[in-house]
Amino acid sequence: MPAHTNSTWGGRFSAGPAEAVAAYTDSQHYDRALWEQDIRASKAHARMLGRQGVLTADEAARIIEGLDAVGEEIRAGTFTWQPALEDVHMNIEARLTELIGDAGKKLHTGRSRNDQVALTFRLFVADALEGWRKGLVALCEALVRRAAEHRQDILPGYTHLQPAQPVSLAQHLLAYAWMFRRDAGRLGDTLKRVRVSPLGAAALAGTTYPLDPQAVADEVGFAGILANSMDAVSDRDFVLEALFDAATIMMHLSRLCEEIVLWANPAFGFVRLPDAFSTGSSIMPQKKNPDVAELMRGKTGRVYGALMGLLTVMKGLPLAYNRDMQEDKEGFLDANATVSASLSIMAAMLGELVFRTERMREACTAGFLNATELADYLVAQGVPFREAHHVTGQAVAAAERENKGLEDLTLPELQALSPRIGDDVYRVLQCAAAVERRETPGGTGPRSVGRQLEALRRWLETVSIQADT
Ligand code: ARG
Repeated sequence: MPAHTNSTWGGRFSAGPAEAVAAYTDSQHYDRALWEQDIRASKAHARMLGRQGVLTADEAARIIEGLDAVGEEIRAGTFTWQPALEDVHMNIEARLTELIGDAGKKLHTGRSRNDQVALTFRLFVADALEGWRKGLVALCEALVRRAAEHRQDILPGYTHLQPAQPVSLAQHLLAYAWMFRRDAGRLGDTLKRVRVSPLGAAALAGTTYPLDPQAVADEVGFAGILANSMDAVSDRDFVLEALFDAATIMMHLSRLCEEIVLWANPAFGFVRLPDAFSTGSSIMPQKKNPDVAELMRGKTGRVYGALMGLLTVMKGLPLAYNRDMQEDKEGFLDANATVSASLSIMAAMLGELVFRTERMREACTAGFLNATELADYLVAQGVPFREAHHVTGQAVAAAERENKGLEDLTLPELQALSPRIGDDVYRVLQCAAAVERRETPGGTGPRSVGRQLEALRRWLETVSIQADT
């Protein structure tokens, strides 16, 4: 062991502190994921510099050609990434200069890595949000399709995870479709704030070159430019907002996963998992585990983590750019991979879930799901609701004693509790009737569900058209 190395901790520092520091600050091994957006942003910048006379037309053209060539190398996997060059931006610029010579060194005129990384990341986040939006649309399509198949099928609806009132399976599935539709809307709102260009801010104070930042914004498809250069290079609220959207999508997915885990449990027995989305146990041959749903529920944690992580990174930073902000990327990259994969896997899994509708229907006969129906029936006969509630409670107790359902009580038994009960009560006590009669807007009744399906299909048509154009 060399005499100068610390014997307690020096073993791993054989390379010397300089190399360890370089590895510590290096980000190219992950921010290379942003190469396509960096090249797009640089091309827009170069073109603008050419138009403004900061570069000659020939220089701008050579830079743009060179950037395309670098992009081809990266795409083809022949590009050599150099850790010593720190990040994706420096790697691309260095190779550009290698390829086209001195003109390459002029690309950075009127620009700093601070506004460059902000624009590149805004482009990347915008692309990611578009991807999630497509994933949400596909998931809603799957939910609408499955809901339309099961308009007639009923299952217990729960509150406190206790049987409450019967609902249609369509209503239950559409509840999630509406959540994911709101998530898609949230992404659209976020995109308005992501698609604003920081270029022209340079390091933090603006620049002396006669730039045309709006032209760069136009070229990359952004609506406008940020109004303050210090804000432009130093805020990451666009990432935070995107991560909040991601966290909410995962939270919704995770709840749906939890339903699938519960429903696949034999005590419920409401779904059969497709083989492709479940696994067996290495020791218990009878098991079929909902691993995919569990894992998706679990992965929600790391997306929340990315949001909390970046909020914490940002909270103490003075203006303007600080290197801390390089920590904005890994969490987002991970969240992006998690959200994208989770959305498409959930859509595929939903498409193949086998709903055991006979088990669902059977489950409606236990747990006095029709108790509210009896109370409402009494109210219709002129009994005040509180009293109706009390009488119904007595009926439930009586049925429970005899280990049967409310619908199994005889008419004399019921009339002993309230003389207003007639034999038309039995029609009301059917679970299917309970579903059919709930036609308030948004209710589980068939007409209400039909209206929801129609509204969601109309929305799906408009978003598919937007996605095509
Ligand atoms: N890789 C850096 C980041 O992600 C780029 C900006 C570095 N700027 C600087 N002045 N060191 O934030």
